[in-house]
Amino acid sequence: MQVRRCAVVFIEPRERLDFDLGQLVTGGTGIEIVREWIALAAHRDEEIPLDADEVSALGMLSPENWIDPAEAGGNLPWQLLEGLIAKGLLISDGDDHAALREQDEQVRASHWRGFSAALHRHTRWHAVDTLEAERRFGDETDRPFLERLGTPETPVRERVEPSRRIALGPARETELEKLIRQRVTCRNWDASRALSAEDFASTLFRAFGARATSDEPGITVMKRAVPSAGGLHPTEAYLLVQNVEGVAPGLYHYHPVDHALEPLGRIEAHESAAIALRMVAGQRHFMNAHVVIVLASRFRRTFWKYRNHAKAYRAVILDAGHLSQALYLASAERGLAAFITAAVNERDIESIFGLDPMLEGVLAVCGFGWRGDSIDEIEFDPLGSVWPKAPPAPA
Ligand SMILES: Cc1cc2nc3c(=O)[nH]c(=O)nc-3n(C[C@H](O)[C@H](O)[C@H](O)COP(=O)(O)O)c2cc1C
Repeated sequence: MQVRRCAVVFIEPRERLDFDLGQLVTGGTGIEIVREWIALAAHRDEEIPLDADEVSALGMLSPENWIDPAEAGGNLPWQLLEGLIAKGLLISDGDDHAALREQDEQVRASHWRGFSAALHRHTRWHAVDTLEAERRFGDETDRPFLERLGTPETPVRERVEPSRRIALGPARETELEKLIRQRVTCRNWDASRALSAEDFASTLFRAFGARATSDEPGITVMKRAVPSAGGLHPTEAYLLVQNVEGVAPGLYHYHPVDHALEPLGRIEAHESAAIALRMVAGQRHFMNAHVVIVLASRFRRTFWKYRNHAKAYRAVILDAGHLSQALYLASAERGLAAFITAAVNERDIESIFGLDPMLEGVLAVCGFGWRGDSIDEIEFDPLGSVWPKAPPAPA
C-alpha cells in the first residue's frame, strides 16, 4: 500500500470551554478550557481533532509523492500513519479508501486555491434553523440589540468637512430609477395567486438567459445581462418551482442558452414548502416564494482559466450578487418581487439537486413571485414604493 497527504488541509489551534463534572464534584467551576488542533481539509466535511504528533507528521508527509509507509522513517510510526488514514487526512491507494481518494482527486483536478477550497467546504450548513438559533440567542439575553452590540459603524465614511464637499447634480428620473426604487426585498408572498407562465419565463430570461454565445476555437462564452470574470459565467440556476401556471411543481435546471427548463424531479405541492424551508435554513418568510432559485457555481469553469488563483473564488461569488440584482430588477419591471439570502443549508441543497460541493457549489438562494397585500414579516421600504405606509427599517 502507498500513501500521500491530502491535497489541502489547514490546521487551526482552537480554544473552547468544556464541562467537566468531576471538577464540579471536587469544588471547581466545572468549566474546563480545552485547547486543541483542528484539521480543516478541503475534501472532508468534518472538523478533525489532531494531537501534536499528528500535526507534526502532516508537515512531514508530501501531498504529491506516494510513499510506502515503511519508507516514512522512524519519526512516523505505522500506528501514527494508520491514525491519519483513519481520519481521512492521509490518502491511501487501497481499495478500501477509494471514496476518500476520489474526493481528494476532485479537489486536485479543480485547480482550487487551497485556502479558498477549505473556506468553501467549511462554511456550508446542514440542517441549520436560523429562527431557532435566533430564538436561543434571544432567550439567553433580554437586552436590546443596541445594548448588546453597541452602535454600528456610521452609514457613511466622511473624509472631509461638509463645507469641502463638491455637490453633484441630481440623477434624472428615468425608467431605471423607477425600477431601482421598486426593488424591495420581499418577505410576504401571495400564495393564492399563481405566477403566469409569461412572467416566469421572461423574468428568468432577463436574469439568467444568454443573449448570445460566442465561440473562440474550443471555448464557448455567453453574453448575459451581468458581467462575469473571463466571461465564463460559471453560475447555474437550479429551481424549485412552487406556484407557476403550466409548470408542474418540482425541481428544474434552467438552460440559459436554450432558454428552457430541464426537469430534475417532481415534487408534490404539499412537500414543496418544507423543502424550500430547509433550503433557506428555516426562514419562513421565504418559503412561499413562487419560484426559489439556487445559485450554484461550477468552479472548474472559472478555475480552468484562473488556476490556483488567489482571486478566483471571490470572482465567482461576485457573480451571484450580479445575478440576484438582475433578478430583482427583472421582477420589479413586471410588478413582481424578489429576495436573496446567504443563510442557506448548502449541504441539504446539494443532496436535493445532486451537487458535489467542490465542483458545483451553492453560493446563495434567491427567488421571485407575487408580493402579498399584508405584512407579516418586515420589509425595508422607507420610500413607500411597495407598501402604502412604509414599515420601519430592519434592525
Ligand atoms: C448577501 C445577502 C444576504 C442576505 N441574507 C438575508 C437573509 O438571510 N434573510 C433575509 O431576510 N434577508 C437577507 N438579505 C436581504 C437583506 O436583508 C436586504 O437586502 C436588506 O434588508 C435591505 O433591504 P432591501 O433589499 O429591500 O433594500 C440578504 C441580502 C444579501 C445581499
